[in-house]
Amino acid sequence: MPTILEKVSLEPYNSLALPAVAEYFCAVQNPAELLAALEFARSKNLAVTPLGGGSNIVLAGDIAGLVLSVELKGVRYLVVGQVVEVTFAAGENWHDQVLHCLQQGWYGLENLSLIPGNMGAAAIQNIGAYGVELADLFVSLRAMDKKSGELVEFDKAACEFGYRDSLFKNAGRDRYIIVDITLALSTEPSINIQYPALQAAVDAHSASASEITPELVSAMVCQIRSAKLPDPKIIPNAGSFFKNPIVPQALALELSRQYPTMPSYAQVNGDSKVPAGWLIEQCGFKGAVRGPVGVHQQQALVLVNTGGGSGAQLLALAEEVRVGVLQRFGIDLEIEPRVYG
Ligand code: EPU
Repeated sequence: MPTILEKVSLEPYNSLALPAVAEYFCAVQNPAELLAALEFARSKNLAVTPLGGGSNIVLAGDIAGLVLSVELKGVRYLVVGQVVEVTFAAGENWHDQVLHCLQQGWYGLENLSLIPGNMGAAAIQNIGAYGVELADLFVSLRAMDKKSGELVEFDKAACEFGYRDSLFKNAGRDRYIIVDITLALSTEPSINIQYPALQAAVDAHSASASEITPELVSAMVCQIRSAKLPDPKIIPNAGSFFKNPIVPQALALELSRQYPTMPSYAQVNGDSKVPAGWLIEQCGFKGAVRGPVGVHQQQALVLVNTGGGSGAQLLALAEEVRVGVLQRFGIDLEIEPRVYG
C-alpha cells in the first residue's frame, strides 16, 4: 500500500506555484499502487484528483479528497520496419522522453521539444506546438477507471482529439487516470518546419538542406521556446493560459479588414484560428502587473505568478483579460488549463 499523507501542500506540485492543500495525498509509482490508492479513496468515499507534472492546472483553493501524484515510470518499444511504437508510462517527463527518443533515432517528437509536463497529461489536452500535435503520432493509451479499477484501452478515434481537446476533457472527464500512452515514431527523419517562427529560426541558423536534422529542429524549437516562454522553475506559469479562439470566417474577415496586421490561420471548414496572444497584446495587457501576478512580457498568452500570488488573484487577472478582449474584439477567450479547488 503506498503511503497516504494528510494535509499536504501542493505548491511544489503545480508549475504556477499556487498555494493549496490536499486533504489526502498519495504518490503512486506503479499500477498496483494506483489501484490500492483508488481502493483507499473508495473505502472513505473520497473524491480523487490525479496530478501529472502540474503544468496545466490552476489551483483556486484547497482540494478535498485524495490527490494522486501519478509517478508511474517506464518505457518499452516495438520496432516494425521503420515504425517504432513506443509506450511511455504516464509519469515519465515529456521533454526527457523527447530527448531520449532523439538519441535512439526515433523521430517525430522534435517539434514538441521542451513542453513542460508528463506523458499522461499530454494526451488529455492533445499538446501541440510548431506544426505538430500529439494526435499526429498517437496510437493508443491505457487508463484506469477510477470507480471500477479496470484498465481500459483507447485507440486514437476513441480519444476524440481536437485542438487542445480530447475525450478526457469532455465525456471522459474525471472518470479515468491515464496509465500509459503509445506513440508511433519513425526511424526515418521527416522534417516539418512549416511553422513560420520555426522556419525563420532554421533560416537564421543558415542550415543547408542536409544540415536540417531532427536534432537541429529540436534545438531550434528549444531556442524559440526559451526566448518567448518563461521557465516555470524561474517564473511560475502554466504555458498558454487561453486557447487560441477559432472564429467564424465572416468575423475573421471583418477583423482582418479592421486590423490588417492581425495574424490568422484558416481552418479546413473555413473558420479561422486567431492568436489569443495578439488579441491580448492589442488590448494593452502584455506585461501587465497586478500585484504578485501578471501577463508575461514576451508572450501575452502566458500568465505568471511572480511572487506568492493566489489562484484567486490569477483567475481575477484572467477574467480582466477575457472581458477586455471580449469588449474590444467580440471574441470570448476560453481558459486552457484545468481549474481545481
Ligand atoms: N503574438 C503576438 N503577441 C503575443 C504573442 C503572440 O502578437 O504576445 C502573435 C505572434 O507574433 C504570432 C502569433 O501571435 O504571429 C502566434 O504566436 P506564437 O507562435 O507564439 O504562438 P501562440 O499561438 O501564441 C501556440 C500554442 C503554444 C505553442 C505555439 C507554437 C496555444 C494556446 N498555444 O501559441 O502552446 O507553443 O503556438 O506552436 O495554442 C501551450 O499550449 O502552453 C503553448 C505554449
